[in-house]
Amino acid sequence: MMSKKRLQGFRAAFIHYAGVAHHSDEIAGQFRYLPDGLLLIADGKVVSLTPWDDGNNVPEGCEFTDYQGRLILPGFIDTHIHFPQTEMIAAYGEQLLEWLEKYTFPVESKYGDSEYASAMAAFFIRQLFSHGTTTALVFASVHPQSVNALFLEAQKYAMRIIAGKVMMDRHVPEALLEDPAESARQTRQLIERWHGKGRLGYAITPRFVPTSSPALLEQAGVLRREYPDVWMQTHLSENIREIEWVSELFPEHDNYLGVYDHYQLTGKRSVFAHCIHLQDKEWTCLQQTGSSVAFCPSSNLFLGSGLFKLSAAKARKIPVGIGTDVGAGTSFSLLRTLGDAYKVQQLQSYKLNACEAFYHATLGGAHALDLDSVIGNFAPGKEADFIVVDLTATPLQKLRCSGSTDILDKLFVLMTLGDERNITHTWVNGECVWTQGETEENDHAIFA
Ligand code: GUN
Ligand code: ZN
Repeated sequence: MMSKKRLQGFRAAFIHYAGVAHHSDEIAGQFRYLPDGLLLIADGKVVSLTPWDDGNNVPEGCEFTDYQGRLILPGFIDTHIHFPQTEMIAAYGEQLLEWLEKYTFPVESKYGDSEYASAMAAFFIRQLFSHGTTTALVFASVHPQSVNALFLEAQKYAMRIIAGKVMMDRHVPEALLEDPAESARQTRQLIERWHGKGRLGYAITPRFVPTSSPALLEQAGVLRREYPDVWMQTHLSENIREIEWVSELFPEHDNYLGVYDHYQLTGKRSVFAHCIHLQDKEWTCLQQTGSSVAFCPSSNLFLGSGLFKLSAAKARKIPVGIGTDVGAGTSFSLLRTLGDAYKVQQLQSYKLNACEAFYHATLGGAHALDLDSVIGNFAPGKEADFIVVDLTATPLQKLRCSGSTDILDKLFVLMTLGDERNITHTWVNGECVWTQGETEENDHAIFA
């Protein structure tokens, strides 16, 4: 006998994107706005999104939630973030290499303690949800315990998350050093334990070239070939001194990306964060290998790294997701990060409109992770990850939006003035995992 499906319905305004696109005008062609709609989901999957029809389209037996006056959009997708940097966000005064030495490595050293990692994993996942993020591609620390802690926490919510233990075998403090064989062994074990389990995915995670010996990159490449459907994440071309260092360490390679490419770490499901100072050849390599980019504007401004050329990625149809890059980024909010993205593009005379910006934070991010067939919009069959937004959560937003009737204008206000105060509910896999105003008892325990 077939078990009866649990059916849920939601009435609100909706936006999403019907399909993958690259250029601004193509993205606009995929944009869908329903001022009054009904979303039906069953067993965590989208059944339909239709215009509201005076209630005639609410099936019998459906659990109904009325979010009239609110906007529902697909959950945000953060394509680059560091779990063990949560508590060192807003670290003063340094650019990348000194910032890593002075602040990052000492804090990441704490994540070898499973109990600490578990408490921080709970805090981290709550931060994602309260900021409207339902999927993230995450760097853990070098310790397998940190990955276990994060996946165990995500599993409680059936959250779709991809993460990996950082691999690094040189130019880091003794306490974080590993040897390539051990790094590969631990990575393999984690892949076997977690990858494809429910909604969890694994990413092979060599930190960046300066902390990788040729032997470590070789091992990462071996793993990639052994497990072709796992992800690969790393950093690329973020800071001028970092790039000079790479050319000293690997003089035989033409450029920074050439090193990763040599070890076969490029390709679909490879996500390169930053990509600020790329040569033409490197852009071409990203394009030809089908690699993706995580644009991290908040971090790039905070560390003084430089300005990402979104237009160059678009010209080559390279998938681009948005990354908060916490703790170099200064907020978990993809809304705030889109506000920074707009400003970074303004400095280069590229007008990042709201339609395009929200695409990259939702379906575009899913595409960058090669997950656009399962998340990112409200097409039937997609996993039901979505957020409920109050477009006028503050007096200033109310003032600015009064008299505004254009949804794109309202969305531009949201990405410019908005933040976690605008996210009223976060739904993951058809369950409400966060409601604004909820007490956060677990979070307080960490500060005690
Ligand atoms: N490059 C290598 N490691 C890091 C990191 O932790 N953060 C950033 N922003 N860049 C990096
Ligand atoms: Zn990073």
